[in-house]
Amino acid sequence: MSVRVFVPRDTTALSLGADAVAARLEREARARGLALTLVRNGSRGAAWLEPLVEVETAQGRLAFGPVTAEDIPGLLDAGLLDGDLLAGDTGHPLALGPTEALPWFARQQRLTFARIGLTDPLSIADYLAHDGYRGLETALTRTPQELVEEVKASGLRGRGGAAFPTGIKWQTVLDTPADQKYIVCNADEGDSGTFADRLAMECDPYLLIEGMTIAGLAVGATQGYIYLRSEYPLAKTILDAAIAHAEAAGYLGDDIRGSGHAFHLEVRLGAGAYICGEETSLLESLEGKRGLVRFKPPLPAIEGLFGRPTVVNNVLSLAAVPFILAEGAQAYADVGMGRSRGTLALQLAGNVKRGGLVELAFGASLRTLMEEFGGGTASGRPLRAVQVGGPLCAYLPESQWDLPLDYEAFAEVGAGVGHGGVVMFDDSVDMAEQARFSMEFCKTESCGKCTPCRIGSTRGVEVIDRIRAGENRAANLALLGELCETMEDGSLCAMGGMTPFPVRSALTHFPDDFRRPVEGD
Ligand SMILES: Cc1cc2nc3c(=O)[nH]c(=O)nc-3n(C[C@H](O)[C@H](O)[C@H](O)COP(=O)(O)O)c2cc1C
Ligand code: SF4
Repeated sequence: MSVRVFVPRDTTALSLGADAVAARLEREARARGLALTLVRNGSRGAAWLEPLVEVETAQGRLAFGPVTAEDIPGLLDAGLLDGDLLAGDTGHPLALGPTEALPWFARQQRLTFARIGLTDPLSIADYLAHDGYRGLETALTRTPQELVEEVKASGLRGRGGAAFPTGIKWQTVLDTPADQKYIVCNADEGDSGTFADRLAMECDPYLLIEGMTIAGLAVGATQGYIYLRSEYPLAKTILDAAIAHAEAAGYLGDDIRGSGHAFHLEVRLGAGAYICGEETSLLESLEGKRGLVRFKPPLPAIEGLFGRPTVVNNVLSLAAVPFILAEGAQAYADVGMGRSRGTLALQLAGNVKRGGLVELAFGASLRTLMEEFGGGTASGRPLRAVQVGGPLCAYLPESQWDLPLDYEAFAEVGAGVGHGGVVMFDDSVDMAEQARFSMEFCKTESCGKCTPCRIGSTRGVEVIDRIRAGENRAANLALLGELCETMEDGSLCAMGGMTPFPVRSALTHFPDDFRRPVEGD
C-alpha cells in the first residue's frame, strides 16, 4: 500500500527548501522500492517547523520538522513510512508526534484556517471532502437580504484594519441600484509582519473564491476582482489555476451550480505601493490609474470601481463568510469577546522563536501569544516592545501585554489590532530609531495628495534626527508633538493620520531612547 506523505508548497515552505525535500523523498523512495504518494499540501502555518513533512497513518498524520533534503535518507532508514516513528527519546530527533496533538496547533481555534495544510490547495475534490462549498450551497437557497442578515448577525468586522461591520457594508451595496456591481478583494497585504492573506490564498484558494461568490450573491454583483500584491507570484499562479478549475466545475461562471446566478472572478496585480492597500487608492489602481487616495464621500459601497457600487473587503473578511453560511451566524458570533466576534488571525513575526500563523478567538492576551505560542525572542534576549497591526499602529510596552486582543480594548490605549500582524523586538531595539522609521515609511509611501502627510512625514524624519543628535532636544520634542497633531487632524487618510501612533507610543513608553547621550556629551 502506498503511504501518503505531505510536503507543503506555499511560499514559506518553498523558501525553506520544501521542493528539495520533496524531490529527495521521491528519489530515495524510488531507489529503495518504497511505495509513496507525495501530496503537495499548503502549510499549516507553523513557519518555525517548515518544511513540515507529514506521514498519513491509521491514527492520523505524524509530523516531522523542520526537515532538510539531507535528513531524508536518515528518516527513511529510521522508518519514516512505517507509521510508528514517534517523537521522544526513542524516536527520531525530527519526529514531533501526531500533528494535531502539538500544543502549538491544539491550543488554536481555527475557523477560517481550519483547512490549511490538510488539503492539496488546487484539488476541488479535496476541498469538497473537507467541508468546502457547504457555505455556497446554503447561500444558493437564500435571498440576498437573508445573506446580508446572516453576515450582520455573525458580528463579522473587516479584517483589513478598520474593523468596519461587513454586513453593514454589504447592505449599502445591496441597497444601491446599479446596472453593474463589483466585489473587490483587497489582497494587497502591505502591513509589516503580515502573511495570513497569502497563506489563505496559497493554501486554501477555494475558500476565498467561495467567500467572494457568496458576497456576489448577497449584493447582486456578477464580477469580482482580487487585487493582489505583485510580491506574491505564487499566490497569483495558485489563484489563477483555482479560478480556472472552479469555472470548469461550475462554481464560477454564468450559471453557478445551475442556479441561474452569474459570478466571474479575475486576479489583478498591484505594483508594489503600500498606499494601494487603502481601498480608494486600490480602486484607482484597479482602474489603471496611479494609486491616489479618493475623497470620501462617496463611499466605494455607493460609487466604487468604475463608479459602481462595490464591496471592498480584505481576504480574511471574505474567507470568514463560508463558515458563517455553513455553520450559521450564531456559531461565529458565539466566539470572541465584546464587539469583536469570531477569531483573529495573528501573525507572529520579527524577533520571535516560533513564528507563524496563530488563529485565536478575540480576547486572548498578547503575552499568551508571544510567550506560549511565540516562545519568546529568537535572540533569547528579553522582549522589550511589540508592534501590533502594522506600520501605522502603536508599539506596546510590557505594561500593555496583558490587554485582551480586542478592537475596543486596544483602541482605548491608542493601539490597534489592524490586520493582526505582531512584530516582536528584544531589548537591543532603539525605539527612537523605530519612531524615525515610522516617519520615513510614511515619507516613502505617501501618495502625496495632502500636505500634512507628504510634507509632514519628511519634516518628521528631520525632527527625529535632530532629537537623536541631541540638538535642542526639548524644543524639537515639542515640535514633534505638534507635527503629530497636525498629521492626525489634517491628513486625508489613515496613512498620514495614523503614522503618529507608533511615533507617539515610542515617545510615551520609551522616552529614554530619545535622550540617549550623543558623542561629545
Ligand atoms: C495606508 C493604508 C493601507 C491599507 N492596506 C490594506 C491592505 O493591505 N489590505 C487590506 O485589506 N486593507 C488595507 N487597508 C484598509 C482598507 O482601506 C479597507 O479598510 C479594507 O480593505 C476594507 O476591507 P475590510 O472591511 O474587509 O477590512 C489599508 C488602509 C490604509 C489607510
Ligand atoms: S494621508 Fe498621505 S497617503 Fe493619505 S491621502 Fe494624504 S498624502 Fe495620500
